[in-house]
Amino acid sequence: MTMRKVSLTGIKPTGDPHIGNYVGSIKPALDLAKKFDARYFIADYHALNQIKDPKLLKDYIYEIAAAWLACGLNPDEVLFYRQSDVPETFDLATILMASTPKGLLNRAHAYKAMIQTNQAEGKDQDIGVNMGLYTYPVLMSADILLFDTNFVPVGKDQFQHIEMAADIAQALNYAYKDDVLVIPEPYSTPSTQTVIGLDGRKMSKSYNNTIPMFLPEKKLRKRIMKIVTNSQVIEEPKDPETCSVFTLYKLFASEEQIEALKQRYLAGGMGWGDAKQELFLVLNEHLSPYREKYDVLIQDRPYIDKLLKEGSEKARTIAGETIRRVRKAIGIG
Ligand code: ADP
Ligand code: TRP
Repeated sequence: MTMRKVSLTGIKPTGDPHIGNYVGSIKPALDLAKKFDARYFIADYHALNQIKDPKLLKDYIYEIAAAWLACGLNPDEVLFYRQSDVPETFDLATILMASTPKGLLNRAHAYKAMIQTNQAEGKDQDIGVNMGLYTYPVLMSADILLFDTNFVPVGKDQFQHIEMAADIAQALNYAYKDDVLVIPEPYSTPSTQTVIGLDGRKMSKSYNNTIPMFLPEKKLRKRIMKIVTNSQVIEEPKDPETCSVFTLYKLFASEEQIEALKQRYLAGGMGWGDAKQELFLVLNEHLSPYREKYDVLIQDRPYIDKLLKEGSEKARTIAGETIRRVRKAIGIG
């Protein structure tokens, strides 16, 4: 096992990377990469539950890869790979199934939400639930435990999955009376929060309410103008703390900018269009350098292929060691 702490995270290629992914996962992960052994990957098998169009899936895989690289992932320092290129993951997932209580998976948020919706609509509770969704937390645990991960930088919505990975690892360690697997924990910073989307709900590809990271300037502005606000007129003073535009602004503006906009809210005389324009300006300034890099990278698939191939070879070396260790412990080695 490595002595340095390990940080690991993955993103599913299920849509355009958005500023929720950036704030909740990409940014904290890249900060952690400065002090830990970092392993960041594209969770393409996890995406299969949602994406059944092969061309689209391929496009999204390149988009997520280009997003990581554009935001500053250095493949010489970070192990960067595709989940599907590391088959040891599926070995471990099968082993973990035997230490995973069914009741644990019954409690997973995504699965629970789906059966509750079915029940509320008077349908059979299992309609639309595939085994990929049901066993999602086991595959995710395999991703994490395969690399002796200590910290997993993810948004709050994923914390339950990391806690499940810790539970499953503990169950296996207990069964074999040995510290076979490292117990992971979610990593959060005060800024790792749930970023809200255009409609005030969690920003998510599934809700179609995102602000994608790499939209061209004009489209970015148009998207920001779609943020839902209340019907207060220009003259009225406005409450910054309950406003989605201000909440998003705070994530990207400086202390002085935040204070100045707050005063304009409280004074009245500022319309929602003006507040959104301020948000566009800070966001555009923040994202422009990433967008420039992304636009170049997304055109160069052979380069991305080469990096991912090199990364997966290194990843398989580490993964192979873990699998040998686990197999030995369980009597299959
Ligand atoms: P989505 O919900 O859009 O499908 P993913 O499930 O692919 O996003 O999430 C990838 C990473 O980005 C995860 O670590 C997740 O916690 C984080 N993330 C996604 N949406 C948000 C959000 N609105 N706020 C904070 N983090 C988020
Ligand atoms: N489930 C995560 C998401 O929806 C993606 C993911 C798959 C992941 N495997 C992981 C995140 C391992 C962290 C570690 O965002």
